[in-house]
Amino acid sequence: MSEQSIRLTKAFVNLHHLTHNMRLLQELVGSRQLWPCIKADAYGHGATIIARHLTSLGYTTFGIADFEEGMALVQEGIQATYIVLSEPLPEHAPALVAHSFESTISTFDMAEALAREAERVGKRIAVHVKVDTGMGRLGLQPDSVRNFLEHCQAFPALHIRGIMSHFPRADERDKEYSLEQLGRFRQVLAGTQGYGIEVRHMANSAAIFDLPDSYFDAARPGIAIYGLHPSREIANSRVNELKPVLEWKTRIVFLKEVPAGMGLSYGHAYHTKRQSLIATVPVGYGDGLSRNLSNHCTMLVHGVRCRQVGRITMDLTLLDVTALRGKVQQGDEVVIIGRQGAEEVTADELAQKLGTINYEIVTCISHRVPRIPIS
Ligand SMILES: Cc1ncc(COP(=O)(O)O)c(C=O)c1O
Repeated sequence: MSEQSIRLTKAFVNLHHLTHNMRLLQELVGSRQLWPCIKADAYGHGATIIARHLTSLGYTTFGIADFEEGMALVQEGIQATYIVLSEPLPEHAPALVAHSFESTISTFDMAEALAREAERVGKRIAVHVKVDTGMGRLGLQPDSVRNFLEHCQAFPALHIRGIMSHFPRADERDKEYSLEQLGRFRQVLAGTQGYGIEVRHMANSAAIFDLPDSYFDAARPGIAIYGLHPSREIANSRVNELKPVLEWKTRIVFLKEVPAGMGLSYGHAYHTKRQSLIATVPVGYGDGLSRNLSNHCTMLVHGVRCRQVGRITMDLTLLDVTALRGKVQQGDEVVIIGRQGAEEVTADELAQKLGTINYEIVTCISHRVPRIPIS
């Protein structure tokens, strides 16, 4: 038995659900390309597992955050086109060119650094020009794009393969701002004929559901491929067809009867109200279970929601399993995120409790938790 396989807390990655979600998204965008975003270890799902399965489905262009993420996948033998979504620095040009990673660029310095490096090694390097139509994070201002493209003409080793933008508010019910952005992007595109640009891309998951006019040539879905809703405000009811890819489970390692009034875990932030049966499970904030959920979440045991009690510690957490007295045993399965019987705990439920979004919940499951593919 490998060392990894004896870890009791695991994240299971359901590849059937990944396939299902990709089919749904592909149906929505029709013949346009889908470029799945597998940055941040595939939103915590395990980038190697996800990328390998996606390539088996025929998807071979991936959005990653930076060079290191792409290299990790290359070293796993995953041959793909990698689009670097975060802005690199000119000093990264040699590494990016060496591996032909396609950077999204917002500055002329970056374009020049890539072009000169490509020329030096006798290559042509593809890039995607990022336009800030309203995200306010990265990108050229719309009125400077034409000038930028014109200046890039000086570099034959630079292939401006794509032009892109990003939505900050496509997941909101009110689409007014996103539609204004789309208008700005279209205006930019009208001035970019003749520069050899092949791919225009803008749509994230929310836009795939709610803004079909943003499909252009390719879409970059992230959260939806993992079966999670971009927000609760998506209008297109097909969002309900998504199936969550990740389940997070652990097992009971210790059980004890405790009397009423007993303080539990650090700071005794919980005292039993009555004689209680308490289970200890080997998951904590070291695994990505936020300490702020202490006394504030439930986990599933035998299909029953059991209250988490006391402070969540680095490695261990307590559950009140009194309702399962006589039934529950050491070694029993505990579901942190996922389904058991008729009950389900979702990443959205934990996100709501923490005042955050499902993206953060799954992305923060730490590297200590093995990702196990289910196929
Ligand atoms: C540039 C870019 N495109 C696409 C995505 C995917 O977004 P989503 O996960 O909302 O589909 C992201 C995610 O943050 C992004 O930064």
